Amino acid sequence: MIIEPRTRGFICITSHPKGCEKNVLDQIDYIKSKGKIEGAKKVLVIGASTGFGIASRIASAFGSEASTIGVYFEKPPAEGKTASSGWYNTAALETAAHKEGIYAKSINGDAFSNEVKQQTIDLIKEDLGQIDLLIYSLASPVRTHPTTGVRHKSTLKPIGGSYTNKTVDFHTGEVKEITIEPSTGDDIENTVAVMGGEDWDMWVNALMKENLLSSDFKTVAYSYIGPKLTEAVYRKGTIGQAKEHLEKTAFTITDALKAINGKAYVSVNKALVTQSSSAIPVIPLYISLLYKVMKENDVHEGCIEQIHRLYAERLFLNETPLDSKGRIRIDDWEMRDDIQEKVAALWKEATTESLPTIGDLEGYKTEFFNLFGFHCDGVDYDLDANEMVEIPGLQ
Ligand code: NAI
Repeated sequence: MIIEPRTRGFICITSHPKGCEKNVLDQIDYIKSKGKIEGAKKVLVIGASTGFGIASRIASAFGSEASTIGVYFEKPPAEGKTASSGWYNTAALETAAHKEGIYAKSINGDAFSNEVKQQTIDLIKEDLGQIDLLIYSLASPVRTHPTTGVRHKSTLKPIGGSYTNKTVDFHTGEVKEITIEPSTGDDIENTVAVMGGEDWDMWVNALMKENLLSSDFKTVAYSYIGPKLTEAVYRKGTIGQAKEHLEKTAFTITDALKAINGKAYVSVNKALVTQSSSAIPVIPLYISLLYKVMKENDVHEGCIEQIHRLYAERLFLNETPLDSKGRIRIDDWEMRDDIQEKVAALWKEATTESLPTIGDLEGYKTEFFNLFGFHCDGVDYDLDANEMVEIPGLQ
């Protein structure tokens, strides 16, 4: 079938198998071009199909020839209906890995559930014995708690008062003011339940109980801080509370891993266009300006460049450099004073008229469509594409 993008708000409900494949192959090429990474050899990635998660799986599989198991929640294709992009991404990754004789299998289901944890445990026992790295890159709007059965919904709200600032509708380019009402009731607790560290801790505990973690095992979860501009809605908002909890959980997990000399880290990553970040108000405008400034200063990175730097220049060094709060920082270029000063100055000037020139709105849009396999260089969208792609390592 001929597949075209069909957007609904900040998501695209179709995705293109060839474009997704191209994105994955480009990331594989990038990792290979950087040479071998002396990293982990048996890797589990939770949230493995898009964004930072698939970049982590690619960096492990093709940088370190690691055996990888991916866990994700994606929609399979049906005749005449495309799968979600993470499905096609995973199919491309596993096909490429198998071609090179690299082990790659995956599980599609709710990572928060006991069932998916058990299925993963059984697969590790059967195929890998133990793992030496767990990447936790899950981003979800909801979580059904495995013990209470309560369905928690996360929110993106300021705390304590409403917040008004500029944002952009990146489809139309319109820059306008929005007001976001503050959190109420259980918003904070619910957001922490979904995006905080409890599920990460549960994964590590479940694996440790079964003796599936090697000595010197490492685990990393991803966090974000960002600038003053987005603080009210991000770091000091409901999602920020969840990130604080995630960051604290790293210490709890490290304590629990003492016997095997294991370590849990949080890596603070850069703001990037992903399916999750396009859903956050104000962030798309910030990213449009940030991309422009970072590209002009030759320090722009995508997910794969970020994860390469995380692996090669942080995580697998004899001593991992950490900030004063014990976190790995690969948002260092985004947070550089000169970059932030320029973004803050551009922010004041940003209007519907000026944004196409002072910001990288086109770059934002292209990356957004790229997430779903559209607008990718070298893909002929006039050709029939087979939507019924299978994931070769799917369990
Ligand atoms: P993403 O939306 O691209 O990826 C989310 C992944 O989680 C996908 O693989 C999806 O299938 C999986 N997933 C969602 N719900 C699931 C469930 N119930 N069970 C199993 N898998 C599920 O997100 P992105 O942006 O890569 O985020 C990953 C992490 O990185 C998050 O913790 C996010 O806060 C963090 N981060 C993101 C930044 C950004 O600008 N995008 C910046 C810094 C950190």
